[in-house]
Order: sequence, then structure tokens, then C-alpha cells
Amino acid sequence: MQQRIYLDNAATTCIDKRVLETMMPYFSDFYGNPSSLHTLGAQAKEILDQSRLNIANCIGAEPDEIIFTSGGTEANNFAVKGIAFANRYKGNHIIVSAIEHDCILNSCKWLEEQGFFITNLPVDNFGLVDIETLKRVINPRTILVSVMYANNEIGTIEPVEEIGKICRQHNIYFHSDACQSFGKVPIDVNQANIDLLTINSHKIYGPKGVGALYIRKGTNITPLLHGGGQEAGYRSSTENIPGIAGFAKAAELCMLEMATEMQKVTKLRNILTDFLFSNYENVYINGHAEKRLPGHLSFSFHGMEGETIRLLFLLDEMGIAVSAGSACSSNHGGNASHVLQAIGLSPFEARGAIRVSFGRFTTKKDIDALTNALNSTVMQLNSIFS
Ligand SMILES: Cc1ncc(COP(=O)(O)O)c(C=O)c1O
Repeated sequence: MQQRIYLDNAATTCIDKRVLETMMPYFSDFYGNPSSLHTLGAQAKEILDQSRLNIANCIGAEPDEIIFTSGGTEANNFAVKGIAFANRYKGNHIIVSAIEHDCILNSCKWLEEQGFFITNLPVDNFGLVDIETLKRVINPRTILVSVMYANNEIGTIEPVEEIGKICRQHNIYFHSDACQSFGKVPIDVNQANIDLLTINSHKIYGPKGVGALYIRKGTNITPLLHGGGQEAGYRSSTENIPGIAGFAKAAELCMLEMATEMQKVTKLRNILTDFLFSNYENVYINGHAEKRLPGHLSFSFHGMEGETIRLLFLLDEMGIAVSAGSACSSNHGGNASHVLQAIGLSPFEARGAIRVSFGRFTTKKDIDALTNALNSTVMQLNSIFS
């Protein structure tokens, strides 16, 4: 089999073998239902409690503030719809950034049909939310502000602490989607005044289909799922114990290895950036130069934006996996990215980003292979460049 080079870690990551090892006994030996009173149930409950504590410790939360979900999408839906419905007597206005993930934006579209008013907060050319605009659009009926911690397409890290402070001053809930930043940069929900935080497992070398919503104690939120009352009544359904154990192990490993890993991926990203700028006059970077995720690079070639999907396929044929703006946009007919348009690119340009996301297992050899492959694919697409 051809050796594949995986540079799409923002879409998902492989499972770290140490995570897989942690999960295995919970499929076969300790398979009890944590709500059962017998020994097998108690064993499952023990790992559930331990995992909750581990995840809470990663973000400065208390264990009973962590609600496990089926992933980032569910946690984001829960945060936005749960706050909206629980607090509609107080107000019906919600503010979200224009570059949120579709699961936030589409939840908001649906809420609009239910009578809520949504303000899309613009961002500047680097993808940073404008704080002054935020202050201006808050009104007495605003109940929630949702701004992602870091963007999945362009890697820009948002000024969450400032946003949190403003929300706290106005007594408005602040939710942040940290699916891209959890495990990659330090997060402290208290320091950032975050009331709700979405995290997931499959971006940090854990299993797919598991995530969590941090809900600050005292937050007024309505559950999405009603049933047997698991997860303190916030999220009914038997907990995914192997997934949760894996998620907690993955998170623990990230905390232990974050500093060295981030140093490594930053170095690799800089090598690729230097290569791009020294070889192509028409290259430009999408997102912020410094306020960005360490292992994330989004770039485009002026005039060649329409050829990006072809370029991705050529690289794929050479065994190299990179992405267009996001996994979602790559998979939906190369739609012009709402994120790239929000930072000021035209609809044509907004089809043309190439996202390279480095990870725990990325090596210098992988980057060499990518730069060599870019050289030859660019030759193939030469007519477009000239
Ligand atoms: C920023 C962001 N939010 C939410 C999600 C959705 O998470 P999940 O795939 O766990 O549902 C993703 C994953 O693509 C993401 O990047």
C-alpha cells in the first residue's frame, strides 16, 4: 500500500495507540451501564467519573460542569438552542460571529424560524471579531454571544478573554466552540469568563462520536435530549463509556505533550510558509499571522483559486492528504467558503484555499514530500500560473 502523508489534522486525527489501549477493556471487559447498580455498572461509573474529572481539569472546570455528548455538533446545538429556549423570557437576541462552524450557523438559522433574532458579527481581514462592533450590537434582549475559540478554516484565534469580559459586564452568556483549539492551546474557562465551551475528541487523537459541553454552574439551559436523566438530566442516553474513556485519555496526553508538540508543529509550519513565499510570488496566507493555531496553515494562489480542487486531487494521487478550506466545504461541491468571504475574499477566491494542518505524527519528511509534490503539481498547472 502506498504510504500516505496525512496533513489534514484539522479535519480529524488518527487515534493515538495509547488512547486505543485505554479504550479496549471498556468494549470487552468493563462493558457495564454506568447507571446499573451491580459491579459492572459501578466499574463503568468509576471510569465515567474519572474521565469527567480529567476533562474538567484540562479547562479549569469542576467535574459536574462537564456534560458528555456525541461530539462537537451536538454540544454546539445544545449550547445555542438550550440557552435560547431556557432564557427566551429574558430576551430573544443572539450574537454569533460570521465565521462560526455550520453547526452553530445552521442552529441559529433554525432559531430564527422560531422567532429569535440573530446578529452575525463581522470579522476583519484576518478573521478577528471586532470588539467595538460587539459592544455596539449588544442590546437589552441579548441572551447569548457565541464566538469560536479558533477558526477551523483559517486558524485565527479569537480574543475570547475580551469577549468574555464584555459578556460578563452585560450579564450575557458566552459560549465558545473550542473544537479546534482544545488540546492545542491552553484554555481556562474562568480566566476567559466562558460560560459554555464545546470540545470534541476526534481532533485530539481520540475516537470519533464523542465530545462535551462545559456548562458553568448556575447556567440556565434546557436539554435537547429527554429520557432516562443521564448526565445530571442534561443529556439523556446511556453514556458512550469506551469513547469517553478514550476522550479523557486523549485530553490528558494533550495536556502533557502540548508544549513540545506545539513547538514542533510551529517549526514545521514555518518551514512550509518559508517555502511558499520563496517559491511562489502569487501565494497569500489566509488568517492572522501570529494569532493563529500553531499547527494550521491556510494559503491560496492568486489567479489559481479555481484550480484548488484539482490541485488537491493531484496531491492525493501522490499520497498526500490536505484539504480545501474545511472538510465540510471540500465535501460539498467546493462551495465558496463563508469564512473566506467574511475575511474579504471574493466568492471566486473563497473557493481557493488550501489548508495544511500538522499534527502529533507529522514529520519534516512529510513537509519535504509536500513541497516536492507542490513543485511538480504547480508545473502541471503551469498554464494557470502563467
Ligand atoms: C470548529 C468546529 N466546530 C464543530 C465541529 C463539529 O464537531 P464534530 O465533528 O465532533 O461534530 C468541528 C469539526 O469539524 C469544528 O472544526
